Amino acid sequence: MPETIWDRYGGYSFVARTVRDFYDSVLVSAALSPYFDGVNMEGLIEHQIQTVGAVMGGPYDLDVEALRRAHRHLRVQQAHFDELAVSDPWPQPYASALL
Ligand code: HEM
Repeated sequence: MPETIWDRYGGYSFVARTVRDFYDSVLVSAALSPYFDGVNMEGLIEHQIQTVGAVMGGPYDLDVEALRRAHRHLRVQQAHFDELAVSDPWPQPYASALL
């Protein structure tokens, strides 16, 4: 079986570190941090590791419907996606699940 991107980059420990760094920067943003008031960040970080891990070929399934449910009530704006600036345009299926 070919090596996955998940394996090549070091799997869980690499992705966990990257996701934690990512949310550290989100939480210091005045525009983004209010979205995360009262959110269980440890639970969110674990789910995000699994979501990113699924896309990287790691041992998780991508649950687009769960992404949709988690974000529907937030009414996330395009400007907030742009501030995260991971890629433009947003890759499907994220954009349709989140906006
Ligand atoms: C590609 C973009 C994004 C991805 C892949 C993503 C992924 C995720 C994942 C996996 C969760 C955890 C869901 C769960 O616990 O069931 C989550 C939760 C959350 N996301 Fe995102 N997200 C993205 C963009 C955004 C943006 C732009 C915002 C707002 C600025 C946002 C705000 C939140 C909040 C507040 C939660 C916690 C919801 C709660 O626990 O009530 N996300 N996201």
